Amino acid sequence: DWTMASYKDDAIAKIREQVGDKRVICGLSGGVDSSVAAVLIHEAIGDQLTCVFVDHGLMRQGEAGEVVSMFRDNYNIPLIAADESELFLGELEGVTDPEVKRKTIGRLFIDVFQKYADEIEGAEFLAQGTLYPDVIESVSFSGGPSVTIKSHHNVGGLPEKMGLKLVEPLRELFKDEVRALGRELGLPEKFIGRHPFPGPGLAIRCPGEITREKLEILRQADAVYIDQIRKHGLYDEIWQAFVAILPVRTVGVMGDGRTYDYACALRAVTSVDGMTADYYPFTHEFLGETATRIINEVKGINRVTYDITSKPPGTIEWE
Ligand code: XMP
Repeated sequence: DWTMASYKDDAIAKIREQVGDKRVICGLSGGVDSSVAAVLIHEAIGDQLTCVFVDHGLMRQGEAGEVVSMFRDNYNIPLIAADESELFLGELEGVTDPEVKRKTIGRLFIDVFQKYADEIEGAEFLAQGTLYPDVIESVSFSGGPSVTIKSHHNVGGLPEKMGLKLVEPLRELFKDEVRALGRELGLPEKFIGRHPFPGPGLAIRCPGEITREKLEILRQADAVYIDQIRKHGLYDEIWQAFVAILPVRTVGVMGDGRTYDYACALRAVTSVDGMTADYYPFTHEFLGETATRIINEVKGINRVTYDITSKPPGTIEWE
């Protein structure tokens, strides 16, 4: 009789057994996975847990603040909110290769966590919201030979030198199961229903060089797009939707002037677990209205395209 309630009880017992009376730090990304992991671990060991939310400067519009207030307002979980955006954006300057981006972000996350772990007396464990698909995807593709498609920064263990042991209570679960567990734990529905957001954040939705200017344009376009999706009641039908800002400017016309601004791509997919995906069949009306809104409301974008690639052969993210 396998239910989420009993899964929860088992998971709590395992966490207590693994951790004993030691302290745990948990990296919060703002996504469902790490939030569920944090709340689960908090139920298991209470104040032995400290959460660390690193704002890498690559969050969506308003999200850093939302995550922090959701944890401070709803839970009594000790939370360190670290604004490390200068560090991350500085190190990413001039980086264009997708794997170098991912590895840079992964390395900085580890450095930053190490810094906070060192400040927490007796911290011996690092908790992560790694899911089963993360584990599989970072090892092999479609059961074929071992080929890394993308290095997920939250998988693969930690360097020995970090000296922290991993707690990964969601390692056997798929996304829908994590959401069920989150409901079991009483997380707000609004939070549970959120689309997945990748650890490297907007960095991998900004192919080519990442600049503050492009990130700001991307945030605004993304906010308009998500607003459109919500207004049309489509948010819950879609696995993931986001904007990517393309590393190309194109010519347009606005009023009686010529524009030369960035092009962007809208992405929306349906999926069960993120491992395969189909593009979402928006109506032409929706796409047209959204393109018009983005171009009118976001300075810096004058062309909108819709990505109709499924996975495979495409991946969900652009990098
Ligand atoms: P792809 O782009 O590989 O993405 O089809 C599959 C799912 O994984 C998310 N994703 C990540 N999540 N760290 C994460 O936590 C990462 O490095 C990462 N890369 C991709 C992606 O958003 C999609 O849900």
